[in-house]
Amino acid sequence: MDIQRKPGSIEEPKAKPKMGFTMGLNMLLLLAMVATNILSLYHLSSTIQTTKKPPAPVPVPDYLLHQLNTIRSTITHLTRLPPSAADSSTKAAVSTTTAPPDLLLHSQLSPIATSCHNHPGLLHRYMNYTPFSPCPPDSEELAESLILRGCHPLPRRRCFSKTPPKPTSSLSHNSFAPSLPDQNVIWHKYYCKSFSCLVRSNPKLGFNLSAEATRFMSYNDELDLPVLQLLQIAKAANSVLRLGIDVGGGTGTFAARMKLYNVTVVTTTMNLGAPYNEVVALRGLVPLHVPLQQRFPVFDGVVDLVRCGHAVNRWIPLTAMEFLLYDVDRVLRGGGYLLLDHFFSKGVDLDKLYAPLIGKLGYKKVKWATGNKANSKNAEVYLTALLQKPVSK
Ligand SMILES: *[C@@H]1O[C@H](CO)[C@@H](O)[C@H](O)[C@H]1NC(C)=O
Ligand SMILES: *[C@@H]1O[C@H](CO)[C@@H](O)[C@H](O)[C@H]1NC(C)=O
Repeated sequence: MDIQRKPGSIEEPKAKPKMGFTMGLNMLLLLAMVATNILSLYHLSSTIQTTKKPPAPVPVPDYLLHQLNTIRSTITHLTRLPPSAADSSTKAAVSTTTAPPDLLLHSQLSPIATSCHNHPGLLHRYMNYTPFSPCPPDSEELAESLILRGCHPLPRRRCFSKTPPKPTSSLSHNSFAPSLPDQNVIWHKYYCKSFSCLVRSNPKLGFNLSAEATRFMSYNDELDLPVLQLLQIAKAANSVLRLGIDVGGGTGTFAARMKLYNVTVVTTTMNLGAPYNEVVALRGLVPLHVPLQQRFPVFDGVVDLVRCGHAVNRWIPLTAMEFLLYDVDRVLRGGGYLLLDHFFSKGVDLDKLYAPLIGKLGYKKVKWATGNKANSKNAEVYLTALLQKPVSK
């Protein structure tokens, strides 16, 4: 399980010319970016040339070329940096020309700026638009597809995204308002064309806000941690809760509940099959349109609480999960809390893989409850854990 040491995979040269660690890293990132961009261009041009008989000029969007040029000039700039400048800033760091193992590992798992090269067709379609005019109608679907495939952050574009034609301006401050305005969502890409359809089609999706009003409030079994109890625990430990992130938070109900206790929680959520981001925003909460594999877009040690709900579960590859948990650690302040809320996995994996992985963080186990998942074919169990980051390490 230890991913840090893969014997024989990467060797550190003992007496090679020195190169700054940061510089090396920058170069590697840039090279990766350039390589992927060139690959995309190559891919685009080659697919186009093979499908069209006359060798027409390759219609590569200007923006890709622009980006490539920017990257090229940055590389030129970096390579001209005097080596001493790079060296002096990294005296303490291990000097090596070898790529750090975690960089290689992460670039396989997850994007480094542009894993877009695996999907040049999608990227090409996304960037193929007329500047200064309305964005093409399939923009949102393309963006969502690219982000889910790890192509994130997406390049910016200069077009006007579509908005609903007749939105209501009378938006409620109540995050549990009994109904949501259909006219504030563009529905064409979803099976359902209204909120009432979403509520009827699957009551568990979180669109029935009357039902959501009772979530996180009651204690039915050991796996529940009602918000009031969470607040009490934090208070008793002299740890104030003001800021939080709800990872994969669906329609934002955790943030809505916490808002009533003056805790500001942002919700990461995707638009998989339903307008989750719009709903979080319609509830007066902040939706972050970022996938699970992305580094949290907040600074180190700034939040008091991170909740991982159902979306974080055994379907995430173990190593990706490890990076996720260490990123949670990065954003949590000392004394902050990680709440794993109904994390599910196979019972044997919880004991052998996940519990040791969580243990590596060295957090205090404030709560640790497991229970069998009802009707599970795979002998799955739930874990609800409240873990507190140590104040100092
Ligand atoms: C929404 O939830 C409320 C409260 O649980 C319930 O009474 C109602 O029937 C639900 N609506 C639908 C359409 O399922
Ligand atoms: C939240 O803040 C408001 C304004 O400061 C205050 O009136 C209210 O009592 C607070 N609510 C809770 C649950 O602390």
